[in-house]
Amino acid sequence: MTAESWGAAIAAATARLRQAGVEDAAADARLLAIEALGGDRTGLISALRDRPSDRAAGRFRTLVERRTTGVPVSRLRGWREFWSLPLGLSAETLDPRPDTETLVGAALTVLPDRKAPYRLADLGTGSGAILLALLSERPRAWGLGLDLAEGAAIQARTNAVRLGLADRAGFVVGHWTEALRHDARLDAILSNPPYIPSGTLEGLAPEVRDHDPRLALDGGEDGLAAYRAIAATAPVRLRPGGWLIVEVGSGQARAVSALFRQAGLRIEAVLADLAGLDRVVCAQKMVGVDATDG
Ligand SMILES: C[S@@+](CC[C@H](N)C(=O)[O-])C[C@H]1O[C@@H](n2cnc3c(N)ncnc32)[C@H](O)[C@@H]1O
Repeated sequence: MTAESWGAAIAAATARLRQAGVEDAAADARLLAIEALGGDRTGLISALRDRPSDRAAGRFRTLVERRTTGVPVSRLRGWREFWSLPLGLSAETLDPRPDTETLVGAALTVLPDRKAPYRLADLGTGSGAILLALLSERPRAWGLGLDLAEGAAIQARTNAVRLGLADRAGFVVGHWTEALRHDARLDAILSNPPYIPSGTLEGLAPEVRDHDPRLALDGGEDGLAAYRAIAATAPVRLRPGGWLIVEVGSGQARAVSALFRQAGLRIEAVLADLAGLDRVVCAQKMVGVDATDG
C-alpha cells in the first residue's frame, strides 16, 4: 500500500532500516527518498506532504529493502558526492571516502596558485575522485588518471565529461606509473592506493568487503605493496621540488614515510584525517635532485 505522504513513507522506512541495524537510518531513508523521487533535497522538502506516485513509492520500497541487505546508499544511487562533486560509480570503482578529501586539501596547499598550469598524475584513480577534485579547483591544471581496472578508467572519464573537466584530464589503463610518459616531469603525483593487508580483507565490514572491488582494497601481505611499487618508480617522474602525496591506512604512515625516504624524497608532513588518524604522507623531491629515467 502506498503511504499517504512522502513524510510518512520516510518515517516508516527509517523504522525499517533501524530495525535492520542500519546506523544512519534516518539520513539513509531521506537520501533514498530523494533518489526514488528523482530530485534533490529541496524537491524532497517541498514534496514531504505529497502522496508518492505508485511508481516512486515502489522504487523507494525496493531501495529501502536493498539497503536492509547491506548495500551502501552510494551503490544504490550509483553515485557519491566527493569534494562537492557528483561522481558516478561502477562495480570497478571504489566508493570514494570523505577521508580522501584530506589528501585533496593537502595537494591544494602545496599547489596554491589557481592560475598555474600544474601537471598532475593520480595513480589508481578509481572514479577519478582525487584528480577531478583538483582540476575543479585549479582551472589551468592538467592531469592523468591511471588505473589497472579498465572499468574504473572508463567511469573516471565519464565523470570528467559530466563535470566539464575532460579537456584537461586523460585516463589510462596501466600498472602504477608505467603508462606515464618517460619524459614526464610532474608537479605532483597523488595516490590513494589499495592498502588493506590481504589477510584482513575477510574481516572488513560487509559494506566494504562485498561492494568495493578487491583490486581497490588489497594491499598485499603487509598492505604496503603499492607504496613499494610507487616509491620505486614515481620520484623519477617528478620535477625537482615536485610532490608525492599519498593516503595511508591506519598505522602505515611511518613505514610509508621510510619507503619514500629510501627513494630519495623528503617527508614534509604527515596529516591526520577528521578522526585524528595519520592519513596522508606528503613527500617532496628535493631541488637539485633529478634522477634519470629507469
Ligand atoms: C583505494 S582505490 C582508490 C580510488 C580513488 N583514487 C579514490 O580515492 O576513491 C585504489 C585504486 O587503485 C587501483 N589499482 C590497484 N592496483 C593497481 C595497479 N597495480 N596499478 C594501477 N592502479 C591500481 C584500483 O583499481 C583502485 O581504483
